[in-house]
Order: sequence, then C-alpha cells, then structure tokens
Amino acid sequence: MGVFSTPTIVNSWNEWDPLKHVIVGVADGCCIPPAEPASEPKIPVDSDMRGRHGPRPPETVAHANELLNDFVRILEGRGIRVDRPTPIDFNQKISTPDWTHGTMFGCTPPRDVLLTLGSEMLEATMSYRSRWFEYLCYRPLLKRYCSEDPNMRHEAAPKPRLTDRSYKPDYLSENITIEERLDMVARKDFVTTEEEPLFDAADVLRFGKDLVVQHGFTTNLLGIDWLKRHFTDHRVHAVNFPGDPYPIHIDATFTPLRPGLIINNPERRLPDQQRAFFHRNDWEIVDAAPPAHNEPPPLCYSSVWLSMNVLVLDQQTVCVEETEVYQAEQLDKLGFEVIPIPFREVYPFGGALHCNTTDVCREGDCQDYFPNQ
Ligand code: ALA
Repeated sequence: MGVFSTPTIVNSWNEWDPLKHVIVGVADGCCIPPAEPASEPKIPVDSDMRGRHGPRPPETVAHANELLNDFVRILEGRGIRVDRPTPIDFNQKISTPDWTHGTMFGCTPPRDVLLTLGSEMLEATMSYRSRWFEYLCYRPLLKRYCSEDPNMRHEAAPKPRLTDRSYKPDYLSENITIEERLDMVARKDFVTTEEEPLFDAADVLRFGKDLVVQHGFTTNLLGIDWLKRHFTDHRVHAVNFPGDPYPIHIDATFTPLRPGLIINNPERRLPDQQRAFFHRNDWEIVDAAPPAHNEPPPLCYSSVWLSMNVLVLDQQTVCVEETEVYQAEQLDKLGFEVIPIPFREVYPFGGALHCNTTDVCREGDCQDYFPNQ
C-alpha cells in the first residue's frame, strides 16, 4: 500500500513494532523562550543560551526545516506515512489568569506533547509555561484522526495552572555546584513541586502493558499517579536516573530497542533496585556507546547524549543521526540495519530523532513483556 493511501488507524503500544504512520515536527517560527522557573535550572550559567530569547535565527530555522523534510522523505521512501503539525505564531506573549510569558517555544518535538497508547492520543499536561499552548499545533491532526478512525480516542490531561507554587523558589542558585546538583537529583529533589499533576509525554516509554516513566524536572509524582489512574489496564513504573543533573525527558537516557534489549546512558545508570525489575523479566540493559561530540551544537538545550535518541522503525531497523558513528557502530553490532539521518542542526530545536517524532501507528498489539512483576 502506498504512503498516500495509508488509512488512518491510531495504534501504537511500544517503541519498536513496525512503524506505519508518524508525526514529524516543523521548525517554523521556533523561539527561545524567556527564562521561567522550570527552565532556569536546565540552562547552565556558562551556556550560550543564558539571557537570550526571541525567534531563532532564520537561517537556522531554514536549515532545520530542510533536515526535517529530508528525514520525512526517507521515512516516506520506506512506506511510512508522515504528517506534520501546524505551527502557530510562537513569538507572542501568552497569558492565563495566573501568569504571562514572553513567547512560546515551537512545534519541533512532538514526542514531548503527545503520548500515543493503543488507539488513544493523549495531550500531556506539560510543565513549562512556554509550552502550555503547544497542543494547539497538533489539534488539526488530532481532529482529522478522530474523524477518520472511529476507534481513535483524543484525550487531554488536566491543564496545570503552573503558578509559582508548582516550582521550588530556591531551586536555582548559581552557587550550586554540579556535585551538589547531582546529590539533589539523587535525593529526588527536583525543580517541580507536588502542587498538581505534571508530566511531559517524553518522560514516558511504552512497553505494551507496562509504562516506564521518568520522575524528574518535567514529571512529578502526581503526574505519574495521574497516568496510573488514567491507564487502568496498564502498569506504570516510576524510574529515576541519579547521574543526570537535569532530568528532562527519558529518551536520551534509556532507549528500548526491541523486546529484551535496552541501551542506558552510562552516565545515568538506572539504580540497581529498579534494574532488578527488568532483569527478572529477561531484559538486558547495556551501556549506550559514547556520543561522537564533546559539546551540543550552539543554542541547544539538550546534552551530547542525543546520540542515543534514535528512532526504531522495526525490530531490525533504526534511524541514527549520521555523525553519531559510535552509536551507529554499536547498533550495527547489535544486529540492526542502521539508517544514517543528517539531523545535528535540528538538535537545538528540541532534540533528535525520537524527540522529533510521535507515533500514530505501529503494527502489533498490546503484549505483556514483564510477566514477573
Ligand atoms: N534531557 C535530555 C538530554 O539532554 C534530552 O540528555
């Protein structure tokens, strides 16, 4: 069946079954938002992003769009249907009854906003004020999927108020050393409070019946509890990665590749107690290969570990950023066909290949990969 005749069926239960239909982000109008309580701790004091905000340089937007469009063509060439969000004017002041904020962010990382599980597409609460309205970019697609697939369920988690009570007021201090920050995250002392449920969709990994959710800066315990109450047919497991000084989104830290195999960032190893759950179900967790770069590209929020933010097309095939040669080599040795994708200049827009996609449809159904709970 050709790309354009692929019917709309919302169905995706995991990160590795054969991909049939996906959303890929668009870089148009992407902004660097002004500082806000949730983002401040993520931007190191010596970062080139500190103190900068406003629209990203137009030539970088054009280049990111070229790379995104090339990636779309590669996916379509493999028979995968691709849809794109509709950007809104991100360079405008937004407000709710509780706060105003200088600009929005963009719609390059759809993975952060939408969580697909089975026939449901769920809008995450989000945890940044600048990203509060980002769901609007996906509404045209969700409306269409809803009209074309009678079984599709469009859901939205309760919008949070994101007042100052949702963030620890004293969390950011330029005097906090990296060692102190690592100690804080090891104690699960994160920037967000437990005022209200918060989660970003990119903190959730789908393993069929089991969902693995990172507790960190962008997802709090109430958010994880909300997911448990919402997905009542599933088992929701909270994990945390003490080695990550800025635990924002799980997908540069812990990447399932196929049933039984996960790569884990060696600087952010899953604690032994949490690892036991995977081992007693015969899952192997191996250290990811090192990134090929010592630094992220300019004006980038993410770390060099976007190297492991790969997109699995099926259990034999994986898309890897083309300069991430060590990651590609490791995946090749693990038995995958590696598709190199030029994408590094998209990193500043919110991430790599997993971040910049959201599943609409993968073949397959909901399976139990963890019978030993
Ligand atoms: N927070 C992730 C990282 O930068 C994306 O490693």
